[in-house]
Amino acid sequence: MGVFISFEGIDGCGKTTQIKLLRKTLEDRGIKACITKEPGGTEAGKIIRKMLLDSRLFLDSYTQLFLFVADRVQNLNEVIRPALEAGKWVLCDRFVESTLAYQGYGLGIDLGYIDYIHREVIGNTWPNVTFVLDCPVEVAKYRLERRRGESMAQNGISCDRYETKTLEFQEKLRKGYLELVERDPERIIRVDGSKTETEVHALVLRFLEEKKLWPLGI
Ligand code: TYD
Repeated sequence: MGVFISFEGIDGCGKTTQIKLLRKTLEDRGIKACITKEPGGTEAGKIIRKMLLDSRLFLDSYTQLFLFVADRVQNLNEVIRPALEAGKWVLCDRFVESTLAYQGYGLGIDLGYIDYIHREVIGNTWPNVTFVLDCPVEVAKYRLERRRGESMAQNGISCDRYETKTLEFQEKLRKGYLELVERDPERIIRVDGSKTETEVHALVLRFLEEKKLWPLGI
């Protein structure tokens, strides 16, 4: 079996960069890594993602919840499980904790209910480690605005349902993530996401080493 790592945090926390850095480090050591993301890690998921992120479309909170879960089931069965069975590392950009943070802490759906659905859907396929990249909402907002400026220049639109929410909403998410870390400190690890990319990467590697997942005696 491979190793399953998920990365979490508010929009603009730097997950995507860290995932790319980790893949590079693994591949430099000859370890195969598969990157996936939620929502949108599969063909069906890409269609679901379009619906979910289009803020012009009204979606009830529960509709959002079930669409994220539907996307996750596809990703688990089409991408994550086959890759783990093939002995690969899977680096997943968001997983269950995103639903707990955004639909639970953010939109107010009962956390116990979200846990209940996932127990059924995930079975034994829980990440070995989940990194929560934690940073002040202002830092994340600044990074996001820089990124959005670039993507506006390319696509001319920006209408992401969650990125455009208020700072108050982002604070709720951040607080939620920190509570999730406290709830399951063995698996869910807070990393200071306000540090530089290189420093955060070093923290990630150090933790994997402590967990004896890395460097795997190579
Ligand atoms: P995306 O553009 O992938 O953002 P990011 O690069 O920050 O991950 O959009 C995903 C959005 O969907 C993001 O704002 C978080 C949200 N989301 C949820 O609300 N619930 C979920 O379960 C997941 C997986 C994502």
